[in-house]
Amino acid sequence: MSAPEVFPPPPEVSAAAHIPSFKKYQEMYERSVQEPNAFWGEIANSFYWRVPPSQPLLRYNFDITKGKIFVEWMKGGVTNICYNVLDRNVQEKNLGDKVAFYWEGNEPEDATSITYAELLKKVCQFANVLRDQGVKKGDRISIYMPMVIELVVAMLACARIGAIHSIVFAGFSAESLCERILDSHCSVLITADGFFRGDKLINLKVIADEALKKCAEKNYPLKKCIVLKHLGRDDVFCDGTSNASPPCKRPCPNMQENKQEKQKRSHPQTPWNPSVDLWWHDLMKNASLECEPEWCDAEDQLFILYTSGSTGKPKGVVHTVGGYMIFTATTFKYVFDYHQGDIYWCTADIGWITGHSYLTYGPLANGATSVLFEGLPIYPDISRMWQIIDKYSVSKFYTAPTAIRLLMKFGEEPVKRYSRKSLKILGTVGEPINPEAWLWYYNVVGDQRCPIVDTFWQTETGGHVLTPLPGATAAKPGSATFPFFGVVPAILDEAGEELEGEAEGYLVFKQPWPALMRTVYGNHERFETTYFKKFPGYYVTGDGCKRDKDGYYWITGRIDDMLNVSGHLLSTAEVESALVEHSSVAEAAAVSHPHPVKGECLYCFVTLRDGHEFNKTLIDQLKKLVREKIGPIATPDYIQNAPGLPKTRSGKIMRRVLRKIAKDDHDLGDISTLADTTVIQQLFSDRCKTVL
Ligand code: WTA
Repeated sequence: MSAPEVFPPPPEVSAAAHIPSFKKYQEMYERSVQEPNAFWGEIANSFYWRVPPSQPLLRYNFDITKGKIFVEWMKGGVTNICYNVLDRNVQEKNLGDKVAFYWEGNEPEDATSITYAELLKKVCQFANVLRDQGVKKGDRISIYMPMVIELVVAMLACARIGAIHSIVFAGFSAESLCERILDSHCSVLITADGFFRGDKLINLKVIADEALKKCAEKNYPLKKCIVLKHLGRDDVFCDGTSNASPPCKRPCPNMQENKQEKQKRSHPQTPWNPSVDLWWHDLMKNASLECEPEWCDAEDQLFILYTSGSTGKPKGVVHTVGGYMIFTATTFKYVFDYHQGDIYWCTADIGWITGHSYLTYGPLANGATSVLFEGLPIYPDISRMWQIIDKYSVSKFYTAPTAIRLLMKFGEEPVKRYSRKSLKILGTVGEPINPEAWLWYYNVVGDQRCPIVDTFWQTETGGHVLTPLPGATAAKPGSATFPFFGVVPAILDEAGEELEGEAEGYLVFKQPWPALMRTVYGNHERFETTYFKKFPGYYVTGDGCKRDKDGYYWITGRIDDMLNVSGHLLSTAEVESALVEHSSVAEAAAVSHPHPVKGECLYCFVTLRDGHEFNKTLIDQLKKLVREKIGPIATPDYIQNAPGLPKTRSGKIMRRVLRKIAKDDHDLGDISTLADTTVIQQLFSDRCKTVL
């Protein structure tokens, strides 16, 4: 592989940054790992504690051969995260009138905003509603909602009264919702009547009802379901005639004529079970605006978020109050180099960890103003993202490589239609970003002005663990660069030996940072087995990783996406990155495939850009490209044309399914997280049957 380009931080970004140089990063990093108690103690002091935590802040065991795995930060300290992210901003920092969220609906003209003071009031009201419904500290509450401000209200209200929220992404099926409610024994479900995704109406309440029916069939009848009326609501979807309260905040041009728009929002009546269902707005009517927080131990559980396991049942990842609070706040501040006045936009859904940490808790802890976007990147047209950036003067923008690749398909013109001059820093998360997408993001979206932070982390890590800092780190496209404060990575070989210098192997971490998950809900043994058993003494990420001669870390994809061709360890991500460099290829997925001589070989699926043809010449060019980029060892044995790829709703390619397709194995296992199952049949029928 030829040496990658290096992109030093622009001097004007460094000059204004919290961490203005690599040297400063190194000094702080050294201290954070040598003296974690002192380093995090100072940060913890900038939060409100009813009872301050005492030293040492950190107690843990990472070595399963020495007993139970546990991690505790600041245990004995008493606080409340909702109080820290709302009350303090309003009362002590004078941010009451500052906008916490600009809400941008599915349709461009649907928009509203909420200030910190207003958000605090709503959260207090809803916290009182929950208490009135009998919710107590430690109870689990399932939240299944679209991307609306009330989703934030619901989660913070839980946090305020010490209830544990379990948010289920609103794209999950009834079956998945039921499974998650049962696993964590939730007592209340909070949902909405429905919402639009592009021009498609999702009747969320119908799905929620189906989930509750399934729960009842499994002897778990849920007694309470709180339903937000979101469709056709007056406060944000103003038709120019209503006397909405609170009044609509945006002007209502031409809505009278816009009958078609209204038509789109007409919807069937919400199915209702009066013995279980309660309207959100009815309950809120008489709820008090004041609500004393429940004071919690730093190690009390804050939330559960389910993430898929490599096999079978999803795991309920548990995060606790104190460590998660200080780590998401600190990573947000340094990684996005947050300053008052920034407008920040994270496109992730709150149903995923990115939406928890970097749309809700991290930004709010810093008193930031964020955009909360309900819609889709290319609806109603392919310029929507850039239009939103200009509309709100977004300065920090955080999205996923899959979105970047999708938008790349349409070329530069839709981007250049908007100025994007407010942008300062760009971020990515979720999967390795191929250098081609990185460069497009940098050159086209950021006009070569904006550093890119490629943040590597997981639901389990709670916040960024490997990441550049925009004013300090010289970026290499495709590398998540260096560890964040408090994080000590290592690369292990199959035998569990730590590799030094340039190396490739298993990415592990040697000591806990504050937001590492604490357990798998209801199954501590699964926590220990999944993350600590393979290599005693280390947290195992499950990702493969490479360290280059300059010490940069490069995530090479999940270990289960690694393959061994004739004794050489290869990463499918690396091959994919080579394939998408071809001008005809929009997206690629490579999987390992059994081979009688080499052990394993590469089977690749490619999605072509519009107007390009799949033929023998293209196949030869692609093979040549991979050979050139990585070496002859990586030459694919199979390349299949794939009009679509099987993806989860969060956009991750399900390579497990592709491996089965390559083998003509129709036993696909659990595909409940798949966004669109119709691509599967086509892929099976187009399968390559012989080596090219
Ligand atoms: C992958 C998302 C490369 C990785 C926050 C990890 C990444 C999994 C990156 C966690 C990145 C996330 N570069 N790979 N910057 N970010 N990943 O739990 O495989 O949805 O283990 O958390 O995504 O996915 P999760």
